[in-house]
Order: sequence, then structure tokens, then C-alpha cells
Amino acid sequence: MTIEPIARFVEALARAVTAEPDVPEAAVLATVDANGQPSARVVLIRGVDARGFRFFTNYASQKGRELAHNPRAALCVHWKSLHEQVRIEGTTERLPASESDAYFAARPHESQLAALASLQSEPLASKSELEHRFAALVTEHGAVSPPRPEGWGGYLLVPQRIEFWREGPHRLHERERYERTVGGWRVGLVYP
Ligand SMILES: Cc1cc2nc3c(=O)[nH]c(=O)nc-3n(C[C@H](O)[C@H](O)[C@H](O)COP(=O)(O)O)c2cc1C
Repeated sequence: MTIEPIARFVEALARAVTAEPDVPEAAVLATVDANGQPSARVVLIRGVDARGFRFFTNYASQKGRELAHNPRAALCVHWKSLHEQVRIEGTTERLPASESDAYFAARPHESQLAALASLQSEPLASKSELEHRFAALVTEHGAVSPPRPEGWGGYLLVPQRIEFWREGPHRLHERERYERTVGGWRVGLVYP
């Protein structure tokens, strides 16, 4: 009997939440640009369910532009304290605006203003430029929550393949790879 891999990820994340000292939901997100050049950066996985893995960002950022061109992406988490890695590959889609609105509204006020202040991935002349943009937004909005900027929101990564890696003795690590098929998830072992 195979455990459905998303349920297995949720179970592993719950173990990581108790074991990891910091940001257990941090994952490396890999995207590819129009020339086939991959790039990778850390994002926070903000929700996992049967549909897939959610993360939030600026749609005009480098990753956002790359996903607009090629929606295929990969996530990779490494839980050092658990000696486990999970690799997730699939296709991204933008979350419905209502879902991004709800997530944005639940963020701390300063994080909301920071999202407005940052032209993520654009060149920045000086750090003070960003601080001035942030200060101007504090003056403009006070303690009132701003609406979600249109260019900021979430993605759902719909997984096609999920692989669980667990450290073994003598580098005989365990790898179990789940592949989505029309009939459901097919699972098999892979040489380490
Ligand atoms: C622990 C950690 C968590 C992060 N979480 C996010 C996130 O959830 N969303 C995001 O846009 N950037 C996040 N970042 C910043 C990204 O790694 C990256 O610098 C930024 O998104 C710009 O990437 P890009 O220029 O490739 O689009 C995080 C960075 C770290 C180290």
C-alpha cells in the first residue's frame, strides 16, 4: 500500500516543523528562462493540499517572468535535522485572485507594505531608496492595510513527480520516486 505522496510530504513537513530550528517550509524553487538557463532561489511553501504546493511572490520578479514564459518548475527542500530531501517537479499556475487576497490580508502589516515597496528583482540604486519607499508607504497607509498589489500573488505548483530521499548508512540512501499517471501515483525505488 503506497502513501499518496502529498500526504507523505505533509507528514514529513510536520516532523520537520518540530525538528528544524528555522523555516522548515523553506524550499529552493528552480525556474528556467527563455534561453533554457535555470535559476534557483528560496521561497516559503505556504500551503499544501491534494492540488499541489503554494508559494507567494512578485509576479514581475525574475521567477515570475520566467514562470510566465515557462510554467514548469521544481521545488526542493532539505531538512538537515531529519537527513531528508524532497524533490517536487511540475507545472505552476497563478492562484485565483481571491486566494492571493486572503493570504495578503493575513500577512503582518509591515510585510504588506514591504511587498508594495519592493520592485522585486529590479536594480536598486541604494538601500536608502528602498527605505524611503517603505517610509512613504508607512505615511500613506498608517495602520490601515493596503489592498494586495495586482503584481503580487501566489502560485500553485501542480506536481508531476515527487521524490523522497532519506539518508542511509554507507551512503546507501533511500530514494522513492512517485510519478503521476492517468491511473494515479506510481511509485518506485531509484538508485541513490
Ligand atoms: C528563507 C527564505 C525565504 C524566502 N521566501 C520567499 C518567498 O516566500 N517569496 C519570495 O518572493 N521570496 C522569498 N525569498 C527571497 C527569494 O529567495 C529571492 O531572493 C526573491 O524572491 C527574488 O528572486 P528572483 O529574483 O529570482 O525572482 C526568501 C528567501 C529566503 C532566504
